[in-house]
Amino acid sequence: MNSFFLKTNNCERLHYRKTGQGPALLLIHGFPEDGQLWDGILSDLQENFTVIVPDIPGSGVSILGKVMTMESAADDVAAILKKEQIEEVVIAGHSMGGYIGLAFAERHSSMLKGFSLVHSTAKEDTEAKKELRRKSIELIRKGGKEPFVKGMIPNLFAKQFCESFPEIIQKQIISGQKLSAESMIAFYEAMIKRPVRTNVLKNAAFPVQWIIGKEDNVVPIADSLQQCHLSNVNFVSVYDDCGHMSMLENKDKLIFDIKEFMRYAYNH
Ligand code: MLT
Repeated sequence: MNSFFLKTNNCERLHYRKTGQGPALLLIHGFPEDGQLWDGILSDLQENFTVIVPDIPGSGVSILGKVMTMESAADDVAAILKKEQIEEVVIAGHSMGGYIGLAFAERHSSMLKGFSLVHSTAKEDTEAKKELRRKSIELIRKGGKEPFVKGMIPNLFAKQFCESFPEIIQKQIISGQKLSAESMIAFYEAMIKRPVRTNVLKNAAFPVQWIIGKEDNVVPIADSLQQCHLSNVNFVSVYDDCGHMSMLENKDKLIFDIKEFMRYAYNH
């Protein structure tokens, strides 16, 4: 696995990793995470694909950009692909990574061979969700970053998984707490501002995949089911006993589904 640093118009130091060979697959992590989120599934995927894993500006070892919006992050991702001379890609975006992927699909659609929403949504935040985010921003501003992350992480997992694997939950808490307060606030503000992008799905010339956790508290299954028929070609997988984090909760299934989707995306 090779590590690279890139300077873009927006970001002084954008870090990404690249591994494997074959058709390109770009994995975008969510919040509060970095590219290491995908480490448990990389070794299987790199056997068949060139896998690119960025740390979105403000996460991991990438520094926060001049601006943080779903659009700026999408353009930073496009800059990585340009540097790698990759003209066609499948993007899998986890949650916030999916919001970034949707902005990518809007701005760079000709590059997309397929798009996978991994526990993500094309809807905008509800007013109630925006209000909750504003409260969290206030807490983080007052120095409450650690309790905020500690409180939110268990909620990302199915109840049974949380009880059975406390060490995985703890690892995610420690990883989430590494994000700076400034980055956390920038990500939350960007999520509040993001527009609805269901039209991107309706107009998609590429196949769309939905990975849905039955016990997802962040993107409820009912929301996903309302959207997962909007595109022309939809691959829909619903995972029992899974929350918002299939790359940790249900990784064998996720690897299988991404491989199937990749085969279709590049061969149909
Ligand atoms: C994520 O997993 O990226 C976040 O939970 C997304 C969100 O808060 O909407």
